[in-house]
Amino acid sequence: MFRTLVALAALSSALACPDHTPPSSALGRRADENADEHPAEATWTFADQAAWAVDNPICSTGTMQSPINLSGAFSKVYAPTFKYDNLAIGTLSNWGYGPSYSLNGTADAPTFTTNGTTYYLLGFHTHTPSDHTINGKSAPAELHLVHGDASGAAKGVLGFPLVVGAEESEFFAQILGPTGAPNVTSNLLLDNHEMDMRKALTDSGNFKKYWTYRGSLTTPPCTEGKRWWVSGQSLTVSQEQMAELLLISEDSARDVQKIQAHGVGEL
Ligand SMILES: *[C@@H]1O[C@H](CO)[C@@H](O)[C@H](O)[C@H]1NC(C)=O
Ligand SMILES: *[C@@H]1O[C@H](CO)[C@@H](O)[C@H](O)[C@H]1NC(C)=O
Ligand SMILES: *[C@@H]1O[C@H](CO)[C@@H](O)[C@H](O)[C@H]1NC(C)=O
Ligand SMILES: *[C@@H]1O[C@H](CO)[C@@H](O)[C@H](O)[C@H]1NC(C)=O
Ligand SMILES: [Zn+2]
Repeated sequence: MFRTLVALAALSSALACPDHTPPSSALGRRADENADEHPAEATWTFADQAAWAVDNPICSTGTMQSPINLSGAFSKVYAPTFKYDNLAIGTLSNWGYGPSYSLNGTADAPTFTTNGTTYYLLGFHTHTPSDHTINGKSAPAELHLVHGDASGAAKGVLGFPLVVGAEESEFFAQILGPTGAPNVTSNLLLDNHEMDMRKALTDSGNFKKYWTYRGSLTTPPCTEGKRWWVSGQSLTVSQEQMAELLLISEDSARDVQKIQAHGVGEL
């Protein structure tokens, strides 16, 4: 049983993290995937990250691998201009490690622009603890808003460290609670779930401070060519919300990678 759960989780995570396969079809597949019949699919775990490179050499030979340890001055380049006012419509589920959400399509998706390019929101998910560290410190969790081009190919991710604060998060209020995201062992897909994505910004200082760099997917296949923006201000959730989030999450942080060709804050 445990093996099945781990395998399911590993399979779904490969599909749910910023990536290749359109998330909604991936999630649909997850629901009826029997890991014991597809042992080849379950090839990696967070517990043995050194093994990721066996099937995906770039995980160890890459020079722009994510996540990294961030510190120093905030970035001035690639400032995003948000157009998040459209309500998102999509499917809420659990990627085996925490809540995840996939938009139905890019047509009316929230977007941001920078450097003359539009990035469409594809979906989001969380990691626990945080993937990125700041001044060497992890946060209890991290939210990833995955964006792509109009065709749905992932190309940029916004990361938000999640910490406990005095106020309840209006963003997380939309995905926690009785009608919120299912637990890590559940295959439930909650369709037609609406999200006001502006709340992710208002809960975290409107993205005024950030670090940007050239990075990769933080799970196999560790594909590079993804631009990252990590908020310099954490998104705060209430103690109750953090407890609830952790209850439907499993450890899913990749070790921080050596800074090489990431060009933090550079054009
Ligand atoms: C969104 O996608 C889901 C899953 O494919 C589908 O059931 C639902 O009808 C779609 N909703 C809209 C508004 O297109
Ligand atoms: C920004 O725009 C310049 C000029 O079009 C282009 O060369 C560069 O690759 C762009 N950078 C990114 C990250 O898209
Ligand atoms: C992260 O960066 C801080 C500040 O430069 C440094 O003190 C710390 O040693 C770094 N930690 C890691 C794990 O790289
Ligand atoms: C997880 O959710 C499923 C329903 O999707 C439920 O049957 C199961 O009891 C839940 N597990 C826990 C530990 O809450
Ligand atoms: Zn992620």
